[in-house]
Amino acid sequence: MKILVLGGTGFLGSHLVRKLLSQNHDILILTRKPAYGQRSGAYKFIQWPIQNGEDLNEILNCEVAINLAGASIADAPWTKKRKQLILSSRVDTTRELADQLSASAQLKTFISASAVGFYGNRKTEVLTEQSPRGEGYLSDVCVAWEREANALSAKVGARVVNLRTGTVLDRHAGFLHKMEQLQKWHLGGPAGSGDAFVSWIHLHDWVQSVLFIIDHHEVTGPVNLVAPEPLSNRAFSRVLSEFLKRPPQLSAPEWAIRALLGELAALIFDSQNARPKKLLDANFKFQFRSLASALTNLYQENFTV
Ligand SMILES: NC(=O)c1ccc[n+]([C@@H]2O[C@H](COP(=O)([O-])OP(=O)(O)OC[C@H]3O[C@@H](n4cnc5c(N)ncnc54)[C@H](OP(=O)(O)O)[C@@H]3O)[C@@H](O)[C@H]2O)c1
Repeated sequence: MKILVLGGTGFLGSHLVRKLLSQNHDILILTRKPAYGQRSGAYKFIQWPIQNGEDLNEILNCEVAINLAGASIADAPWTKKRKQLILSSRVDTTRELADQLSASAQLKTFISASAVGFYGNRKTEVLTEQSPRGEGYLSDVCVAWEREANALSAKVGARVVNLRTGTVLDRHAGFLHKMEQLQKWHLGGPAGSGDAFVSWIHLHDWVQSVLFIIDHHEVTGPVNLVAPEPLSNRAFSRVLSEFLKRPPQLSAPEWAIRALLGELAALIFDSQNARPKKLLDANFKFQFRSLASALTNLYQENFTV
């Protein structure tokens, strides 16, 4: 199949592209980086935004489009300017891609990133794809992001899937990598009260669930990409320190973390007890349901996705 991936150079995109290539799909990676451009094996880089008719024709021939673009949410303080970039790099980019794809006669499936941030801060409430949106900045971003993706369904009748992704676990990037560093300095205890739920997913299961969605046309709309067993920040910290055989960890009070991080602290204190109802109903098999099983695999020396 010919598959387009916008954001295919990022953390999730690069793992997904590698897997798609191993299944002999023909891949177009849309990227803002001007240094890219040549075909290499079964994939080709195309300048984003689209520059010419030839590139437009290439993307219009894709059967599946996957949109993973967006400026990093966690890497910089949420100044007004940063918040605008986080929003526009998702919402405007998705609108632009959907506009371009609306001329396609080939497109069957549009898979577009979103996040469990859609649900806002919901304490212990069990959240499925049917749960209503939450409140706050991240929820506003996700709602606007999903709206732009969904518009494509009316335009070309393509199936649209919104990937409401939780915290993706990889030893070398993101949340787990940061927690491991903090635990080395004995600072990886529960954040604040430790009550906030972490809806995590192993990188392997994230990639496999996207492959599953590509093949299962009955799966549409929002899909929670989270493991079936989320756990509190306190339990996450305990399981990780036991696994890494670290001594007891110090924890920082919520007020101190909020003073340090400002609004960005929402990433730590917004609680989402999300469940992958649609994936389970569709019979997707998670390989890593518990955090302990995910850590055991991620810390194997020969780990590959
Ligand atoms: N990783 C997670 O745990 C997680 C959790 C929930 C949701 N998500 C969402 O899933 C998507 C992929 O996540 P990721 O972790 O792979 O992100 P990532 O590593 O930061 O990659 C995002 C991609 O977006 C593109 N990008 C960056 N800044 C941009 C900008 N200002 N305008 C347009 N494009 C820009 C980049 O592509 P080029 O530089 O090639 O243009 C980059 O490859 C993101 O939208 C993210 O919010 C991720």
